[in-house]
Amino acid sequence: MRFLIPLAVLCLILSSLILASSASRSTEAPTGFDNKSNGVADDATHQADQTKFEEVEQLSDGLGPLYNAQSCRECHQSPVSGAASQVTELRVGHQGPEGHFRNPEIPIAHGAEVISGRSLVNDRAICPNAAFPNNEIQERVPETETIRTFRLSLNLLGDGFVEALADQTLIELAEQQCKSSHRKICGQVLQVPIVEAPGQMSVGKFGWKDQHASLLSFAADAYLNEMGITNRLQPDEVTKLCNAVSEPNDTPGTDGLSDIDHFARFIRATKAPARDSQLANGPVATKGNALFRKIGCATCHVETLTTAPAGTKINGGTFTIPVALGSITFHPYGDFLMHDVGTGDGILQATREHYGNRVFQMMSGYLSKQDFEGSRNKIRSAPLWGVRLRPRLMHDGASLTLRDAILRHRGEASHVSQQFEKLKREDQEAIIEFLKSL
Ligand code: HEC
Ligand code: HEC
Repeated sequence: MRFLIPLAVLCLILSSLILASSASRSTEAPTGFDNKSNGVADDATHQADQTKFEEVEQLSDGLGPLYNAQSCRECHQSPVSGAASQVTELRVGHQGPEGHFRNPEIPIAHGAEVISGRSLVNDRAICPNAAFPNNEIQERVPETETIRTFRLSLNLLGDGFVEALADQTLIELAEQQCKSSHRKICGQVLQVPIVEAPGQMSVGKFGWKDQHASLLSFAADAYLNEMGITNRLQPDEVTKLCNAVSEPNDTPGTDGLSDIDHFARFIRATKAPARDSQLANGPVATKGNALFRKIGCATCHVETLTTAPAGTKINGGTFTIPVALGSITFHPYGDFLMHDVGTGDGILQATREHYGNRVFQMMSGYLSKQDFEGSRNKIRSAPLWGVRLRPRLMHDGASLTLRDAILRHRGEASHVSQQFEKLKREDQEAIIEFLKSL
């Protein structure tokens, strides 16, 4: 009896120690293409948010006047809603007299109006139509806009985990990467405005140019610029011509949430892309994974990252990381930093387009112009999760095989792609097999 009490106390101490260590240990992100929530929302809410994401907007909803598609799903759909697609968007501009990049000036309506302040060129327009038979508003690229590129649609599955990364995690990653590569590979951290928290900045992680840090900011930008739907964060139409619906087009429903809130919650609740289970554990992909690390691919295509703890406030204090996204380990095969790998299209971040007039006007005070200029020829490391599902590769979709994409890496990645070229053919094949398992 005398020994029993100390034994019980010991057990208590031991079990609380085990509990404490499991609390500080991070959990693996759920993966899959099953349309189920990762825990951020219950499945019914997630399904309802997905329905909003898939909704096809009509003229009466405020579609256009200039737009690219009628639904988020049209470009984010393969293999399931929220993923990527082959759809590209068109960006152009020209070199100003002092050597800086200039956004295009695109005359519409026989020159009655000039669209400026954005690098995006919309591929579609809603008129001429029955109500506006004489409005010729289709944008076309003027010959003077000689810098031109396509940019592919990106995967959104698992982006809730990316948003929940602490700024400090990416800042430290950039420093450590630069140090360990003897300054050959130094990812750029770009501080960008949080549109829903005017005056606040955070590390950009989304878009080919790291133009946004917040999924809500991105959803608002996409709703206006891809579909022409004005919303509380992007209230200004690109053109008023042909426009018959009152602004903003996106207004709150009975639950107080607007479409952009549903889109952001939908993306936050998606599971990360799952690997090809047949290939992932095979001997060739396993060998390829080891070589991928050994020759330095993983310096930029970082295999494992961990989100900030639940309860942390991000996006300028407007979003608190929920339990389902807190202290989660995930495998994006990307560092979300900007690099010059010799593929830059020379098109600078379109600030007015991405952040809207209101934030743009206050930006000169708190945004480093030099940082933006320095990122002109850089692209965010493409996160390789789900790369097997994308038949067109790199930002412009111009690389059609994995080997071509790898060999196209120059600039900061030159020494790594040269290492790849020096490998025996079967070792190169092993790396490609590994990529096909992601
Ligand atoms: C016409 C095609 C198209 C439509 C429609 C579209 N997107 Fe996209 N989306 C893209 C392209 C292209 C990119 C990459 C843009 C870039 O960085 O230049 C992208 C990127 C994104 C990203 C960044 C993902 C990442 O990991 O970096 C988010 C978030 C996003 N879109 C959300 C949406 C939402 C929400 C909608 C609906 C309101 C939408 N998109 C509609 C084509 C589209
Ligand atoms: C210096 C950083 C860096 C290194 C090192 C690097 N990459 Fe990349 N990788 C990038 C960037 C940046 C892109 C996007 C470039 C673009 O779209 O123009 C990219 C794109 C890719 C893509 C295309 C993905 C897609 O979705 O389109 C593949 C595949 C890829 N890298 C594989 C590799 C492999 C394999 C290695 C090692 C041999 C490697 N990378 C080394 C930065 C890097």
